[in-house]
Amino acid sequence: MSHFSKTQYDSFSTSYDSINDIPIGRIMVPNVERLVKPYIKNARVLELACGTGFHTQHLLDWGAASLVGVDVSQAMLEGAEAELRKQPAHEGKYRLMVQDCSAPFTVTDDNGDSLEGKFDLVFAAWLLNYAPDLATMTEMFKNISKHLKSAGRFITILPHPEVDPMICVDNVNAQHRQGYGYRIEVRERLPEEGYLVHLYFDTVDPVVDFGNYYLPMTVHERAARDGGMKGKLTWEEAKVPEDHDKLNSYMKEPIEKGYLDEWSKYPDFGILVVEKE
Ligand SMILES: C[S@@+](CC[C@H](N)C(=O)[O-])C[C@H]1O[C@@H](n2cnc3c(N)ncnc32)[C@H](O)[C@@H]1O
Repeated sequence: MSHFSKTQYDSFSTSYDSINDIPIGRIMVPNVERLVKPYIKNARVLELACGTGFHTQHLLDWGAASLVGVDVSQAMLEGAEAELRKQPAHEGKYRLMVQDCSAPFTVTDDNGDSLEGKFDLVFAAWLLNYAPDLATMTEMFKNISKHLKSAGRFITILPHPEVDPMICVDNVNAQHRQGYGYRIEVRERLPEEGYLVHLYFDTVDPVVDFGNYYLPMTVHERAARDGGMKGKLTWEEAKVPEDHDKLNSYMKEPIEKGYLDEWSKYPDFGILVVEKE
């Protein structure tokens, strides 16, 4: 089942980064940093749906020994390559490859040897919301678990988790009316109590818009287990750093005190952490 092209990002890859530059995009970074920092030093990292490399650069900056970035969109990866090339310190530490994470794939090293079971950390921002159903999300988790070492973990940014994703849709739309990032149009109710939705980032120019699936928390939990992730599973909340100067150090342009107060009552994203064993 697919309601939009898997490579929909090819057509707007060059304007995509504008959505990571708005404050509610930038606020992902301290949250990823908080959860990833204890495990990133000298880690071998697999990043799924790496897109134009927004998080890739941070993962390398924070000390990853090596990183393989995967995305289904060739154009998004070209954007990532262009950005990463600007940072000589990262040369030779990363490889990018086109893969569909909803179908089985195996990452290999330069000699063609399998890297299954070799990664300390699998990271993904906004991948699981490309699974329309439990079966597809389970396939994603199978790829995640097979590439992780037994002591490894998966850390992912995803739409604010809810038992009923309509609660997330309603809250994000209410915030959009207050001037935050994007609105969500519900296109279809899916069989597994989720929704086919379309996001419109009309606070950036040109407008960036794309399809997504919002599925219940329970589907994520079941897919993780069915996909082979047997360890501790934790839903983490997105937070805003209390120190305003620190918060602004993550922003492209400084924001006023209190700008994220409304957003922080209902962050548009959550974070899921699942240990393999
Ligand atoms: C919202 S973007 C996020 C990109 C990047 N993680 C970031 O946060 O800037 C979603 C990305 O997921 C990729 N994607 C969607 N479905 C995918 C799939 N089945 N396999 C791999 N990548 C996929 C898209 O091409 C796109 O680059």
